Amino acid sequence: MRKPIIAGNWKMNKTPSEAKALVEALKPLVADAGCDVVVCVPALDFAAVKEAAEGSNIGVGVQNMHWKESGAYTGELSAAMIKEAGAQYVIIGHSERRQYFAETDETVNKKVLAAVAAGLIPIVCVGEKKEEREAGYTNPLVTYQTQIALTGLTAAQVENVVIAYEPVWAIGTGLTATDEQANETIGVIREAVAAVYGKETAEKVRIQYGGSMKPSNAKGLMEQPEIDGGLIGGASLKAEDFAKVVHFDA
Ligand code: PGA
Repeated sequence: MRKPIIAGNWKMNKTPSEAKALVEALKPLVADAGCDVVVCVPALDFAAVKEAAEGSNIGVGVQNMHWKESGAYTGELSAAMIKEAGAQYVIIGHSERRQYFAETDETVNKKVLAAVAAGLIPIVCVGEKKEEREAGYTNPLVTYQTQIALTGLTAAQVENVVIAYEPVWAIGTGLTATDEQANETIGVIREAVAAVYGKETAEKVRIQYGGSMKPSNAKGLMEQPEIDGGLIGGASLKAEDFAKVVHFDA
């Protein structure tokens, strides 16, 4: 049995004081959640969020990191900094990072290895663009992205990684993959893990769906057998909406 994990990806939203207020509002609404609840926040908000989430069931993370331990990488954050600040999670390879900040499957892999080595749980994002789906490339593409991202990890390490399947055409567009589309592609991702690390490991990996997931569609997605949670953008910015996604089965 995989425990569902619902994670908010706040992207570049909320100042530290707004972030604190959002977590304070969220805490009572998700206190009895039956799944893992996580917020991945801007790095500058992290201290305020960590403090506000103290003693609650809300896990905390950031949205990006560098793979090097330290050095002349202006503007970047290392895994050790993120870990020592108290984060448990780090989103890696979000399609916006791939699209706007030139991240590649290779850099995603380096970041995943550094995150795991530091004791962070990476939420690794994979997913196809609209034209790739239309051309029939979805399955080989997500297989390749997944296998490259995990290269160099042991099976035991892979078990703890969270993968987020995020079709790029569904992110922030209001378009959602159908429940069946999302389930099918997540099944392909699980097979990609199984092909390298074995079925037993693949059955333990939690794979989320992300892309316009919100209160009105969370239940249908979450009822799919392969879908183990969600990575929530827009709907994670309001405590009530995010709490409704967390309580998808209420
Ligand atoms: P969205 O974003 O829920 O706003 O579509 C999801 C994501 O990009 O992680």
